[in-house]
Amino acid sequence: MGSHACTLSPGAIVCRRLARYEKLLSLIVMQPEYTIKKSAKDGGNESLEEAERLVQVIAEEWTSNGTVWCCTKEGDRFEVPYLLPGERAQLRIRRMGRKRQVIGEIARTATAAARTQPRCPAFGRCGGCLLQHVAYEEQLQLKRARVIDGLKKAGISFPQVDEVWGMEVPYHYRNKMEFSFTLEGMAGLHARADWQEVVPLHSCSIALPAIEAALAALTAWSKGAGLPGYDRRTQEGLLRHAAVRSSFATGEGMVTLSTQRDDPGLQAALGGLVQLLQAQMPGFCSFYWVIDPQAGDALHLQQRRLLFGQPSIQERLGGLRYTLGPETFFQTNTQQAEHLLALVIDLVQPTPSMQIADLFCGVGTFSLALAQHVQEVIGVEIVPEAVHQAVANAKANGIDNVRFFAGDVRRTFPRVTAGDPPDVVVLDPPRSGAGGKVMRSIGRSGASRIVYVSCNPDSLGTDLAWLLPFGYEIERVQPVDLFPQTPHVESVTSLVRRVLP
Ligand SMILES: C[S@@+](CC[C@H](N)C(=O)[O-])C[C@H]1O[C@@H](n2cnc3c(N)ncnc32)[C@H](O)[C@@H]1O
Repeated sequence: MGSHACTLSPGAIVCRRLARYEKLLSLIVMQPEYTIKKSAKDGGNESLEEAERLVQVIAEEWTSNGTVWCCTKEGDRFEVPYLLPGERAQLRIRRMGRKRQVIGEIARTATAAARTQPRCPAFGRCGGCLLQHVAYEEQLQLKRARVIDGLKKAGISFPQVDEVWGMEVPYHYRNKMEFSFTLEGMAGLHARADWQEVVPLHSCSIALPAIEAALAALTAWSKGAGLPGYDRRTQEGLLRHAAVRSSFATGEGMVTLSTQRDDPGLQAALGGLVQLLQAQMPGFCSFYWVIDPQAGDALHLQQRRLLFGQPSIQERLGGLRYTLGPETFFQTNTQQAEHLLALVIDLVQPTPSMQIADLFCGVGTFSLALAQHVQEVIGVEIVPEAVHQAVANAKANGIDNVRFFAGDVRRTFPRVTAGDPPDVVVLDPPRSGAGGKVMRSIGRSGASRIVYVSCNPDSLGTDLAWLLPFGYEIERVQPVDLFPQTPHVESVTSLVRRVLP
């Protein structure tokens, strides 16, 4: 509603007021709404309605998940998304017992210098990114501080954590996206605060351009074919997910569409989608279809049928070839994974006689890259399919000095290294960390170096606290930004054994 739409008329005064009002709004209004919807449970509850109120807050410091701790003058403290430390805002909040729920931001009365204009029009509603309003330099500082803080919480002081390796262009990096469909059949991502709601997207600032092209094709197709999305509340509807992959190195693209059921005419319509993807998605060469009648919102890709093209696409990382199917785990930011891989190799300081253990090895990304520099690598991974994939990747790249073991690291690592301890241990555990048992057995193995790749500074701190008493010293901590615009923090820590315990 721009003021230029008004003409000189009796409405002119209203028009001028509107213009002034719009100007004021543009000064104070920030994000698109991030309303937390009332749940069905509390809908219409008068006492909760009454508990809604406006509060003035000061944003104090980042939480560990990309929101900000805010404080009212009465001393109330709660988490708020989309603010920056140092900002002041007026918020509408709702009291839910001892909790506070932020319903919306009314006005921002002090703005941080590090605030920037989000690129994506869906920012603030879409659950894909949380930090597009933060200048990239500030995102990197925030991530470094998170690593220092994770260590500190575990009683480890290491303030010399290196500056985060950021991306030159911190957008359009993801080589894989899992889209869902709105009830009207538009492809998008889940809302930040409501997993049942899907925010329709016309573009996605963090996906590779070929994936954005697939996103547009999916929506154009479903609208043209009049196909509804799946309703997570009633479990009715048709279109569920579209998992889209695009190889950064080869440009090959794959789309896997899941529908709730088969429908008359659906298979013919899928032919139309394939044609559209061929025309619009650069590199598109593989299309799978999955019928998934299960409740819940998890992706089930096991029962897939290849309807078009080749069964897999090829990606390259560290000079090696990787074959990716719809379900294969692979690093999502290929560009930054190149730097991560080079860093891990650098910190291992490989020599031709070295034995390395790569724990939580997934499809063998670190194992295979390291195997080219050392005598032997042992990889341990709990998911048997990932181990099969790792073995296949080794074979495809002509690497024969790697042995992969399927099993829980806790039991498998001590078993397979008994009597023949590794010189260096590399580990890349999931968010929960490796745990005391694994860290103690690494400590007992007496490895001279340890390289710990972490996606969670808190579990990194806890795990390192288990290891240090075995005579290890932190040599370097290098965060690498694999996930710009999101609060996720990746870091690599190298440790050397200085003294015997
Ligand atoms: C962060 S990923 C590591 C990925 C790997 N570095 C790669 O690039 O392919 C963590 C891996 O640990 C595996 N994992 C989780 N718990 C495990 C356990 N207890 N024992 C062995 N592997 C485990 C997961 O299946 C996953 O592949």
